[in-house]
Amino acid sequence: MKHPDSSRRSFLKKTTLATAGLTAGPYLLSAQRRDSLLERSYPAFSPNDQIQLGLIGCGIQGIYDTRSALKVAGVKLTAVCDLYQGRLTRAEELWGEGLFKTRDYRELLAREDVDAVIVATPDHWHKQITIDALQAGKAVYCEKPMVQRAEEGHEIIAAQQKTGKVCQVGSQGMSSLGNEKAKQLYEAGAIGDIVMLDMYNDRYSSEGAWQYPIPPDANPETVDFDTFLGRAPKVPYDNTRFFRWRNYRDYGTGVAGDLFVHAFSTLNYILSSNGPVRAQSTGGLRYWKDGRDVPDVTLTFYDYPKTDTHAAFNASFRVNFIAGGGGGGGFRLVGTEGSMEVGQNSVKLFRTKLDMIPGGYSMIAQTEANQEKLREAYEAELGNRRSDYLDLGETVFEAPRDYKGGHYDHFFNFFDAIRGNRTVVQDPRFGLRAAGAAVLANESYYRSQPVKWDPDNMKLLS
Ligand SMILES: NC(=O)c1ccc[n+]([C@@H]2O[C@H](COP(=O)([O-])OP(=O)(O)OC[C@H]3O[C@@H](n4cnc5c(N)ncnc54)[C@H](O)[C@@H]3O)[C@@H](O)[C@H]2O)c1
Repeated sequence: MKHPDSSRRSFLKKTTLATAGLTAGPYLLSAQRRDSLLERSYPAFSPNDQIQLGLIGCGIQGIYDTRSALKVAGVKLTAVCDLYQGRLTRAEELWGEGLFKTRDYRELLAREDVDAVIVATPDHWHKQITIDALQAGKAVYCEKPMVQRAEEGHEIIAAQQKTGKVCQVGSQGMSSLGNEKAKQLYEAGAIGDIVMLDMYNDRYSSEGAWQYPIPPDANPETVDFDTFLGRAPKVPYDNTRFFRWRNYRDYGTGVAGDLFVHAFSTLNYILSSNGPVRAQSTGGLRYWKDGRDVPDVTLTFYDYPKTDTHAAFNASFRVNFIAGGGGGGGFRLVGTEGSMEVGQNSVKLFRTKLDMIPGGYSMIAQTEANQEKLREAYEAELGNRRSDYLDLGETVFEAPRDYKGGHYDHFFNFFDAIRGNRTVVQDPRFGLRAAGAAVLANESYYRSQPVKWDPDNMKLLS
């Protein structure tokens, strides 16, 4: 049998791995040993390049986003918009009284002291506000999922192309050092050909299950409920729908749009992939019977086709909001020569070759004489692979202690693109490929059948 390692492809991969500094045994990627690709440089900006920022949707993520955005030099918050008075007051508490405040995002978009906006509203508002902002000449940072429905993504792509304005979608993890290192390792052949992705997220808390607190002063005076509904069906005033909008299909995208979408951004980025061709979901509403109409357990299998950048493989995504007393999450790429656990601040690489020499399990049924002969035969066949075994083991790559994080990097990338120094890493086409693949899970779940997707043209097929 010709050993695959004798192929030119493997040789090239090994050479690349060697030059990437991966032939040594396990080590921590300390500051001293950091690969140059993992150095982040944050170029200075010209004092003329001050960016004035507006925030639309001053809820939880809008605040986290703005905090990260304001850490980037030369960025100033000038205006905020929200439909609940308490959020406007909170914005003032956080960022001072000089802010322009409004409940109508169109007033914010009309202002000259706003160059760029963050759109951190519920999902069903993303498309309209993003398009209106682009058309008003603003750069847009649109939270993920870029759209609530896959077909809407094409409208954002068209608006961005027509206006030429910068538009970044907000899956911040893919700008992180961890994701970049994983991409570098994958391309260097560290795990061989991909065969499987395992993504999971187990949550065990009321906040994890989207049971966000309802403010005691919320009422029809302080909340503009009709505007919140937007294109969604008209229903009477309801604090729960307003503050726990994720729990309703009319406004959110379920766990797929909330959580799968991040994993798709990371996965598509690492593999340079356009995404899957098929999804099959199951799940149910098992525990949180609080009026929500989305499942709290979702399991989806995706099929990725073979492309120039990856082998055909299968992906398993699963989320549960009950978690039986524990919690946690993972994102693990499994390949023919190893696996990688990828996070924003670290990558755990396990380099393995399938161990071809049988151990005790099956040898127990062989006579001692035959055990000896069998081992000799395997050794002879595999002897020339011994040197490869030097690569075996676990390598943990960790970001340096002073790393500013993926959220900062994603915003830095956004503002640097506005300043004309680079393009965004997650443009609307990328955003649609991640959101489209994610909401495919919902299509399959609600139809109770597999669904097909064209990842190149970003269209639902059946
Ligand atoms: N990137 C991430 O890791 C991440 C994390 C959490 C949430 N998100 C995304 O951020 C978005 C917001 O989520 P959240 O958890 O902050 O929700 P949230 O409910 O805390 O905040 C949403 C805010 O938008 C306001 N709003 C609703 N409709 C509006 C409109 N038409 N105009 C102006 N304001 C409006 C609401 O009053 C509310 O304050 C969602 O799309 C979500 O998927 C992203």
